Amino acid sequence: MNHYHIAVIPGDNIGPEVIAAGQQVLQALEAHGFGQFTCELFPWGAQHFLQTGRAAPENICDLLSDFDAIYMGAHGDPLHVPDRMGSQQLMHPIRKGFDLFANVRPIKWYAGTESPLKQTEPIDFVVVRENTEGEYAAAGGRVHQGTREEVAIQSSVVSRYGAERVMRYAFELARQRNGKKCVHCVTKSNALAHTMVLWDEVFVQVAAEYPDIRTTKSHVDAMSIYVITRPSSFDVVVATNLMGDIISDEGACVSGSIGLAASANINPSRQVPCMFEPIHGSAPDIAGQGIANPIGAILAVAMMLDWLGEAEAAALVEASVEMLLADGRIRTPDLGGRSLTTEVTAAILGNLSL
Ligand code: NAI
Ligand code: MG
Repeated sequence: MNHYHIAVIPGDNIGPEVIAAGQQVLQALEAHGFGQFTCELFPWGAQHFLQTGRAAPENICDLLSDFDAIYMGAHGDPLHVPDRMGSQQLMHPIRKGFDLFANVRPIKWYAGTESPLKQTEPIDFVVVRENTEGEYAAAGGRVHQGTREEVAIQSSVVSRYGAERVMRYAFELARQRNGKKCVHCVTKSNALAHTMVLWDEVFVQVAAEYPDIRTTKSHVDAMSIYVITRPSSFDVVVATNLMGDIISDEGACVSGSIGLAASANINPSRQVPCMFEPIHGSAPDIAGQGIANPIGAILAVAMMLDWLGEAEAAALVEASVEMLLADGRIRTPDLGGRSLTTEVTAAILGNLSL
């Protein structure tokens, strides 16, 4: 039996509520003989900021580098802590420090789940979002702060190296997937004439290495229409950091709820721990009520298991979620039900044992 060391960062608000569900799934898998999962908790986020002045220690990557994987909830407590702190001091240092350049976000409609759309065809695509540069590169600053002449500059960064590797990741994924064998490039090169023109040029170059994979392309504003009008037409979608963030949140919503979607932050080198998390934020509007949907966090466990090489356990977790959603009786309010986080989790744990 393989033994894994997992760093767990529950985060703020609903973060700890949904991560507790994921940890219960790991415990159940351990009890069923699927591996040994030793979890170490890192209580970073808003409370840590209020106590120490930082959302996480500066040497965060040193503290995490020996783990096999990182399991993360969501951070952010905007009423008490400046909202950028979690990203600046916790999330981005991990993504950039470990060079987790591919943020892989499956967007899937599960039978039994109601989409807000009148669509009938299944939705099943993956957003591969560039995760280390783009609009979240943190390039910029403020001058003349607090004066009438104040200026803020935030530059978007697209490098040939960064675009190439994330696009190759997307094409390889399209090859592996049993899908439409198509990569869709999200751009905005009509308006962003430097960064996105380079992005488009690199896409054409990388696509030439994959003659077996079809390509399509749209500007991000048109893409926000297509995610609603024809979400079933996509297979793999590659996008920059901010655009991929928005498109995947929208895709999760049209597939039923943002509470269903999971993600993996991947550096394929296997030299560093990769990070797994639901795609949603800390949802302060529903925190403490026990009604957060834990499924995104539980599917993030499935993605983590898959990455660790425990494909059978990963498939079992996803099948248990599918069974619950198809049954339809136990669901949280975001899916139109009245069940609690704990009730959904208990039902999924029950399905694991069947
Ligand atoms: P959000 O994703 O937290 O919430 C958006 C909407 O979706 C809310 O109505 C919320 O109730 C609902 N929602 C989210 N997750 C849900 C779940 N599991 N079950 C049921 N409903 C769910 O986005 P928002 O409101 O923009 O951000 C809230 C906080 O989270 C902010 O501090 C923000 O900075 C932070 N945030 C953190 C992220 C992360 O840690 N990865 C990602 C996005 C936002
Ligand atoms: Mg988002």
